[in-house]
Amino acid sequence: MLPIEKKHLLIVDDEPVILQILKAVFEEEPWRVTLVGTGAEAERILHSERVDLLLTDKNLPDVSGLELLRIAKAREPLCEVIILTGYGSLETALAAMEMDAFDYVLKPLNNVFDIRKKARQAFAKQDVALENRRLIVALREKNLALEAALEETRSLQAELVQSEKLAGIGTLAAGIAHEISSPLFGIMGLAEAIADEQDLPLAQSYARDIVEYCRTVRDIVVELSSYSRAATTEYLTTVEFARVIQDALRLVERSADVRNVRFETNLEEGLFLHARTNEIQQVFVNLIKNAAEAASETEAGGVVRIAAGRTGNHVWGTVSDNGPGIDAQKQKLIFDPFYTTKAPGKGTGLGLNIVYRIVTKYRGLVTVDSREGLGATFELRFPLER
Ligand SMILES: Nc1ncnc2c1ncn2[C@@H]1O[C@H](COP(=O)(O)OP(=O)(O)O)[C@@H](O)[C@H]1O
Ligand SMILES: [Mg+2]
Repeated sequence: MLPIEKKHLLIVDDEPVILQILKAVFEEEPWRVTLVGTGAEAERILHSERVDLLLTDKNLPDVSGLELLRIAKAREPLCEVIILTGYGSLETALAAMEMDAFDYVLKPLNNVFDIRKKARQAFAKQDVALENRRLIVALREKNLALEAALEETRSLQAELVQSEKLAGIGTLAAGIAHEISSPLFGIMGLAEAIADEQDLPLAQSYARDIVEYCRTVRDIVVELSSYSRAATTEYLTTVEFARVIQDALRLVERSADVRNVRFETNLEEGLFLHARTNEIQQVFVNLIKNAAEAASETEAGGVVRIAAGRTGNHVWGTVSDNGPGIDAQKQKLIFDPFYTTKAPGKGTGLGLNIVYRIVTKYRGLVTVDSREGLGATFELRFPLER
């Protein structure tokens, strides 16, 4: 434990009798008491020592008591001051109160115990103020520590996002190499075979196989390049959600085989995102295309429902189908690049991975809800544009 320093009481009066009386009054108190007879001496002490309570005559011959009050407060705002003043100068006593004196005592000193009581009260008030000050300092330190922790979390998060991105690119690059290498080796083998082949129909069937392999590679390249084009050529703008979804639907209706599928939309208008139109469109093209492909497997007729709206501070969009659904095991894999259950030439396995990349880039979320045999619902959520 630190030794607790005694409170320091400085008493200033030019009348030796008064000093004598006050000395007796405070003798029993657990304070250090200094008695001085001049303002100059008091000033010297105020400048060189800590003073907790100043009890000073207002009318000193050299320095005014009010001046000592000012000095004491300037040195230590929590220093308390009690002014001793004659009956005649009640007004100046009030002036002292205005200068933040704790109290005043009128001379002659009729009730010395009253002075002692006031001094005790002054110290009690000071203790509360000191405790408050300590608490504020502690709070400030806590705040600083919290801020530092927050800052660290932020930079860690940024690092994580960065390394996650790099890992993602690595996986994607490895995947592309893998996906392209097998058709490439196929093409090479067939081309070599053709070079030595005398049988024309056989050579022609090799050539057809080569075309098939090339299609696979082309699909991968087309899908990737439309993604990277979407990401680089366009500026961020204000995107009207419902319109982009409608455009995406039109694209799918035109390009994919969706004869067996009915589309229903329920889109709230007037919702905006700050994003690249192409990217948001691509997200919906990929989801709607998957849904349509899944729904077209339904004998009784496929249905794809697309909805968009707003909840709280989120914009959401959903794409549901009545296709075969996705079992829990597969749900873990569908966002990986090149994961596909479709026949060769039918799917690249890149669609949902691209959806995931774009959505997370906009601090959004993509989730899937599906039970086998009961269709699937993909949900997107984006923080609302203010
Ligand atoms: N709406 C859906 N219903 C059922 N399965 C789906 C649906 N959407 C995606 N999938 C599954 O996720 C896989 C990956 O989808 P995606 O990344 O778009 O690649 P691709 O469509 O080229 O196969 C699909 O092959 C399919 O198995
Ligand atoms: Mg797809």
